[in-house]
Amino acid sequence: MPKKPYGTGNASFQAAGGEKGLRRLVELFFDRMSADNRFSTIYAMHPKTNDVSRDKLFRFLCGWLGGPKLYQEKYGAIGIPRVHAHLKIGTSERDQWLTCMSETVDEQPFAADFKVYLMEQLYVPAEAVRRRCTSAHQNLDAT
Ligand code: HEM
Repeated sequence: MPKKPYGTGNASFQAAGGEKGLRRLVELFFDRMSADNRFSTIYAMHPKTNDVSRDKLFRFLCGWLGGPKLYQEKYGAIGIPRVHAHLKIGTSERDQWLTCMSETVDEQPFAADFKVYLMEQLYVPAEAVRRRCTSAHQNLDAT
């Protein structure tokens, strides 16, 4: 049987190693964010104890990639731009997040084409967050 393309059914969730793979991705993403000064601006936006942020991102990604809807089960409905609207996220902060994620994704045992697909997909909500925050905080650049 040919493999289902990413984005159909739970193919992306499986390609990311399921819950175990996504838990690991999110833990390493936050560890990297905390350890590297290039990401200090976005790290500082998170609560000091960021276990809840880790849990939320992990759960969100499971459902978003076609797996179990773990975020909704525990925290209810979510709109990604809306939950960031109070934050000052412009191009630089968006790119810190995407760079930190991309470097973490690169180190995972995912298929090479899935790594590319995943980062293309993540750009979409990241850019939606930037746009929402830019209109909420007009002192941010609008590029
Ligand atoms: C564009 C760059 C982004 C930055 C700088 C950023 C930063 C943050 C910060 C600081 C928080 C914690 C907010 C708080 O506790 O007050 C947060 C929450 C969250 N972020 Fe992001 N984020 C970005 C993009 C994304 C993207 C692309 C996704 C999903 C693919 C995402 C998913 C989440 C989730 C699920 C939460 C938890 C929301 C909640 O339930 O309160 N973020 N983000």
